[in-house]
Amino acid sequence: MASHNLLYLPGDGIGPEVMAEVKKIVAWMNAQGIAKFETDQGLVGGSAYDAHGKAVSDADMDKAQAADAVLFGAVGGPKWDKVPYDVRPEAGLLRLRKDLGLFANLRPAICYPALADASSLKKNVVEGLDILIVRELTGGVYFGEPKTITDLGNGQKRGIDTQVYDTFEIERIARVAFELAKTRKNKVSSAEKRNVMKTGVLWNEVVTRIHKDEYPTAQLEHVLADNCAMQLVRWPKQYDVIVTDNLFGDVLSDVAAMLTGSLGMLPSASLGAPDAKTKRRKSLYEPVHGSAPDIAGTGAANPIAMIASFGMALRYSLNMGEWADKLDAAISAVLAQGLRTRDIASDAAPANATTTQMGEAILRELQKVA
Ligand code: IPM
Ligand code: MG
Repeated sequence: MASHNLLYLPGDGIGPEVMAEVKKIVAWMNAQGIAKFETDQGLVGGSAYDAHGKAVSDADMDKAQAADAVLFGAVGGPKWDKVPYDVRPEAGLLRLRKDLGLFANLRPAICYPALADASSLKKNVVEGLDILIVRELTGGVYFGEPKTITDLGNGQKRGIDTQVYDTFEIERIARVAFELAKTRKNKVSSAEKRNVMKTGVLWNEVVTRIHKDEYPTAQLEHVLADNCAMQLVRWPKQYDVIVTDNLFGDVLSDVAAMLTGSLGMLPSASLGAPDAKTKRRKSLYEPVHGSAPDIAGTGAANPIAMIASFGMALRYSLNMGEWADKLDAAISAVLAQGLRTRDIASDAAPANATTTQMGEAILRELQKVA
């Protein structure tokens, strides 16, 4: 059996708590001989800053480069609000994305049947929802230069961020979206703001060409990003795959998360280009939610997004798609049984599980189908 090398980067706040539930699943899979995971752990975010004054150390970056999959929890918290900008907790995550070349971020928003009542939207709007946001992750305004605040000397300052996209960056993310669409309903909605942004004009042009030349059988539509946000809360089931830039993808995926009932439900996968020789892609898996410092240590955190992120690692990096399906089924079963952390509770199904209880119930379900 091939061995896989996993790097845990639990981070801050609820990160370590939700990661603990993944570790139990990994330990069980090892003990059963289902897989051979070699695991290592590093620091990222505020915890890394406290240890060595950086948001992620070079040594941990080397481990991340070598891993078959990086499992990332969450970073940040009020404790580090005042640390210098370039070593703020989020800088660790951005360095991982950039240095590992993880340009494709997959954020599937699935509304589990049992949670159709937990969304703030009407049940018929979200029931059966299954959409995938493909977010460009290493370009755009997150990384564009110049990125500065300058003193204008007249009591005014000027803040500048730069949105930049080159053709190749749009081509490769479009291809990821069209390829994934093939495995689904084969429909891609490309979201940009071509009405006010040059990057939007180029985005639209490149996606249109990739569609015409390489994926003519897919259905492609273009949607303005603001309209896409509105459509997501009006009638999200019109979408299959949404492809969009780094900043719009950040915003639209938070909207999509709430359609599933809670931010605590949304996993994500960040993938690089396949290596020319080994075909292996660098990868990092993280829940879309943040470090939730307000509930850290209380047992209220929902581990499902983190566990489902591990499921995506099984599917996209470890060639264990069958186990990813089993894990998804275990999550679905536990929800159907009525288990709820606070964030996914409703009048009909009140909160009745801590982080650990939820994680262990999912593991027990997985053990049943094994
Ligand atoms: C996300 C987060 C990050 C982002 C933050 C923590 C830097 O919001 O992954 O959606 O903006 O990309
Ligand atoms: Mg975000």
